[in-house]
Amino acid sequence: MNKSEKDKLSVISPAIELKDIKIEKPLRLGVMASGSGTNMETLASAIESGSLNAVIRVVIYNNPDAKVAQRAEKWGIPAVLLDHRQIKGREALDRAIVEILRKEGVDWVIMAGWMRIVTPVLLQAYADRVINIHPSLLPSFKGIRAVEQALEAGVKITGCTVHIARQEVDSGPILMQAAVPILDDDTPETLHERIQVQEHRIFPLAIALAARKFGV
Ligand code: GAR
Repeated sequence: MNKSEKDKLSVISPAIELKDIKIEKPLRLGVMASGSGTNMETLASAIESGSLNAVIRVVIYNNPDAKVAQRAEKWGIPAVLLDHRQIKGREALDRAIVEILRKEGVDWVIMAGWMRIVTPVLLQAYADRVINIHPSLLPSFKGIRAVEQALEAGVKITGCTVHIARQEVDSGPILMQAAVPILDDDTPETLHERIQVQEHRIFPLAIALAARKFGV
């Protein structure tokens, strides 16, 4: 099996396409990311192609080396660094985040690989408006190293989940999931790569679904 054949081994639920979810008014998104930013870029690309009616008002990142900053620049999206090492306490970080999101008039907060625990400061300011993506079929394998956890557990199917964030890490109402089979020769890298193909597929869809379901 070649890579593109392997990438097709997946099931998404619910089975729906972006063109079938109409959003009247552009969603004003604020993206929080800690790493590479491929999921942020997927959203930017879905917006540019007109398949997701939204605008990314700001990208907030917490790690000076995060590649997401360069990706945001490439798409002309303002990126703000809030280095958690310079800000004392999780609540203080979240207060700074909320201030930026409010200033930008954000109505949906998208955690696209945000690797910090968030507090009620953010979750109450944006109640039911914070969306997270996680590389496992929740509620299995919460927290860090989710891909490695799945390999270590010996499960044969894993995947990714997009959900509304609640206080407990990687918990909250599930919007959408994609299942990805684990192959005998998978390493954490090959498996994560295939999971990311599915993340990029379901992330814009799940955001559109949330907006339809819960209003803008
Ligand atoms: C994604 O795989 C996402 O599911 C994961 O971080 C990666 C970010 O990739 N998130 C978590 O593990 C959150 N618990 P990206 O920077 O290329 O978008």
